[in-house]
Amino acid sequence: MPEWTWEYTGYAPADERLRESLCTLGNGYFATRGAAPEAFADDVHYPGTYAAGCYNRLVSLVSGREVENEDMVNLPNWLPLRFRVRTEDGSAAWFSADADELLEYRQTLDLYAGTLTRRIRYEDADGRRMRVHQVRLVHMGDPHLAALRTEFTPEGWSGEIEVESALDGEVENAGVNRYRDLDGHHLTHVHTGAMEPDTVWLRCRTTTSDIRVGMAARTTVTGPDPLASRLHLGPLRVTHLLHVPVTAATPTTVDKVVSLHTSHDPAISDPLDAAVDNVAAAPGFAGLLESQQAAWEQLWRRAELDVPGEAGTILRLHLFHVLQTLSPHTAELDVGVPARGLHGEAYRGHVFWDELFVLPYLNLHFPEVSRALLNYRHRRLPQACRAAGEIGRAGAMYPWQSGSDGREETQQLHLNPRSGRWLPDHSHLQHHVGSAIAYNVWQYCEATGDTEYLQTKGAETLVQISRFWTDSAVYDPGRDRYSIHGVVGPDEYHERYPDAEQPGLDDNAYTNVLAAWVLTRTLDLVRALPEPRRRELLENLGVADGEPERWEEVSRRLTVPFHQGVISQFEGFGDLAELDWEGYRARYGDIRRLDRILEAEDDTVNRYQASKQADVLMLGYLFQPAELTALFRQLGYEFGDDLWHRTVDYYLHRTSHGSTLSAFVHGWVLARNRRGEAWTFVREALEGDVADLQGGTTGEGIHLGAMAGTLDLVQRGLTGLETRDDAVWLDPVPLPELSEYGFSLRYRGHWGVDMRLRHGRLRIKVPASCEPPIRVMLSGRSLTVAPGESFTLRLP
Ligand code: BGC
Repeated sequence: MPEWTWEYTGYAPADERLRESLCTLGNGYFATRGAAPEAFADDVHYPGTYAAGCYNRLVSLVSGREVENEDMVNLPNWLPLRFRVRTEDGSAAWFSADADELLEYRQTLDLYAGTLTRRIRYEDADGRRMRVHQVRLVHMGDPHLAALRTEFTPEGWSGEIEVESALDGEVENAGVNRYRDLDGHHLTHVHTGAMEPDTVWLRCRTTTSDIRVGMAARTTVTGPDPLASRLHLGPLRVTHLLHVPVTAATPTTVDKVVSLHTSHDPAISDPLDAAVDNVAAAPGFAGLLESQQAAWEQLWRRAELDVPGEAGTILRLHLFHVLQTLSPHTAELDVGVPARGLHGEAYRGHVFWDELFVLPYLNLHFPEVSRALLNYRHRRLPQACRAAGEIGRAGAMYPWQSGSDGREETQQLHLNPRSGRWLPDHSHLQHHVGSAIAYNVWQYCEATGDTEYLQTKGAETLVQISRFWTDSAVYDPGRDRYSIHGVVGPDEYHERYPDAEQPGLDDNAYTNVLAAWVLTRTLDLVRALPEPRRRELLENLGVADGEPERWEEVSRRLTVPFHQGVISQFEGFGDLAELDWEGYRARYGDIRRLDRILEAEDDTVNRYQASKQADVLMLGYLFQPAELTALFRQLGYEFGDDLWHRTVDYYLHRTSHGSTLSAFVHGWVLARNRRGEAWTFVREALEGDVADLQGGTTGEGIHLGAMAGTLDLVQRGLTGLETRDDAVWLDPVPLPELSEYGFSLRYRGHWGVDMRLRHGRLRIKVPASCEPPIRVMLSGRSLTVAPGESFTLRLP
C-alpha cells in the first residue's frame, strides 16, 4: 500500500541524518532513530535512543562562562548488530554501507505496521554477494520492548558469517553540531553482564538526575545452530558474538529482542531486573510483529485520516511521528510535548509553547494523552509561581523552555553558527507560553466535557496564569490603559528596542490579546464554579476580595498598538527600519534565519520590521473572526475584515518563516481569508520536514508542532471546527488543493465520529451508542445528529 509507506531507495550519506530522524521508531515511552544497526556515531550516522522525560543536567564552560543545560539523554544504544563473512584469518571487514559495494539498498517505513525495513544486496571486498533483509520495531503494545530481525541470504556461496550483537553504553549527546562545545556525557556507572545462553545486559545511570537505566538483549538464530556463541563483557559495551553457518540462496535469521526500563517506571523493583525479566518473557520476533501490528491498527482506527494523493501520504507520516512521540503510553508518564519529538537532540528535548499546536489535535482523538500533558504543566505550577515570585510578580510564570522540574531551561547563551559567536539568549521573555497552556486547558475541557478537570487543576492553572497577567499589567492614567512591558512575542527575532539597554518589548499585541482572553475565561470559570468549589479554590490560592474585579478590569483595558491602519506586532514596530527583502534574498538565497545573517553582518534584526514567524497573525490561528471581533470590542477597539486583511497583508511581506510553525499558521490564516497564497504555505508546511526546508534541522529531530499543526489544519483549519458551548461548530473553507478529506474524531462519549468532505458535501456520521446526540452549529443553524445517524450538507 504505497500510501502507507515511506521509502528511500539507494544510500545517500549526505541525507543519512535526515532519514534517521524520519525513520525513527517509537511508542511514546521511548524512540530510536532510524540509524543503521552496524553504524557508530560519526559524521554520517547518529544512532540515538531517547526515553520521554529522561533528562540530565550538566555544566559546561563556553566563552569563558559556566553555563548549565538540561538535556534529554541519549541512552545506551540497543541497535548494534554488525556482520561479516567469517574467514580463517578473520581479515574480512564488517559490512558497511559506506565501504562495501551496494547492489541494492532500500529503506521502507511501514506506517501501518510501525516497522522499518532495510533491504540490502552487497558485494564484499572478496567478491562475495549477500542479501540482507532487516526489520525493526519499537513496540507500541509493550512500551519497554524493541526488536530487530536480520535475514542473511548468500548468493552463490555457502560458508559462515560472524554476527555481533551489542548493547553500547559508550554514547554521549553529540547529535547537534551547534552544541559541540557543551558537555554531552550524561551517563555514568555503566555495568555490563550476561545471562547464558543468549542474553546480555547493561545498566547505568545519569550523572546528576540519577535516573537508573536497565537494558537487556536476547539474540537468537533461527535455522542452523550457531557454531560458536560467546558473550563478551566490556566496561561500556557488552557483545554477543555468533558464528552462523549460511547456505547459498537460503535465508538464515538472527533476531534481537530488547527491553528498556528506567527508574521512572511504575510497578518495577529495579530497572535492570525488569529489563532482564521482560526480555526473557518476551515472545519471539514473529509474535512481537503480530502484536505490534494489532497495537498500531488500534491507533490508526482512533486517528483515521484520509486525504488522497501525496499530501495524504505526508500527513500520515506526520501523524505517525506524532503518535510515536505522544501515544496512549504517554498518558501514564509525567512528560510534556518535546518540540523535536523523541527523534533527536535539537532544543535538548525541551518543551516550549508548541503544545498549542499539538493538543487541539490530540483532544479529539486521545484526550487522555492531552490530560496527561496538562498534568505535566499542573505539577509544575508551584515552580512557575516561584518563578513569578522571583521577579516580584504574583501568579504563575511558566518557563519558555521546560524540562524535568519546570524551571526555566532556556539556554543563557546560544551559538550563531554563521558568525561563530555565542550570544545572550533572551527568549525566556516569551511569557506568552503561559497563555498557551491556559488556552489548551480550555480547549481540552471544551472538547471533552471534562468538568472535573476544569473545576480543579484547570481552574488552578487558569487563576495563577491570570494573576501573572494582571500583576504584569502597568496602568497608564494618561491613556486609561494597561500595558505589559518587557516581553518577547512569538516572533522571537525581536528581543529589544534597537538602542535599549534592557531586553524586552512593550505591548506585544498577541501577548496582550491572549492575556485578555485568558482573564475572561478565568472569570467565566470562577463565576460558574459551584459555590463550595469556588470557595475552596479562592481559599487555597489565597485570592483576595476584589482580585477577580481587577482581572476583569485588565481584561477590558489592555493595550493593542496600531500603526498605518494595522495591528502593530508591538509598540513601536512600525518605527523600525524596513528591510531590503529583495536585496537579502538576492544575496543569500535562503533568508529564513535572517537573525543569524544580520548578526553575522554585525547588524541586528532588532532594527527591522522583519519577523521570524507568525506573531500578530497567530490571533487568526487561535480565534475565529467572530471571537476576535468580540475580544477587540471588549478591549475597546474596532475590529473588522478590513483591518484584518490589511494586517495579514502587512506581515505577509515582513516575515521570513524561520520556524516551521510559521508555514502552517500562515496556510491556516490565509485559507480563512480565502486567499490564493494559502496553498503555497500549506505545501511548505507539508514539506517542512520531509524536504528538510529549514536546512539541516530535521536531522536533529522532527518538528512536532508543525507536524501536528498540519493534521489540525485539515481537522479544524479547513472545517472551521470548534468545540464550544457543548456543541460542534463548523465553518468550512475551501482549499481547492485539499478538496477531499475524511477523518474520525472522538467527541465526548462518541468514539469514531466520521467527517468526510467529498464533491462539496460534508457528511457527519455518528456511530451508534447510548450517548446523547451531538449538537452541530453551521451557518447560524443548529442541528442534532443522533448516534447511528448521519447528516450531509452541501457547502456553498
Ligand atoms: C520557534 C519557537 C518554537 C521552538 C521550538 C523555535 O524555532 O521560534 O516558536 O517554540 O522553535 O519548536
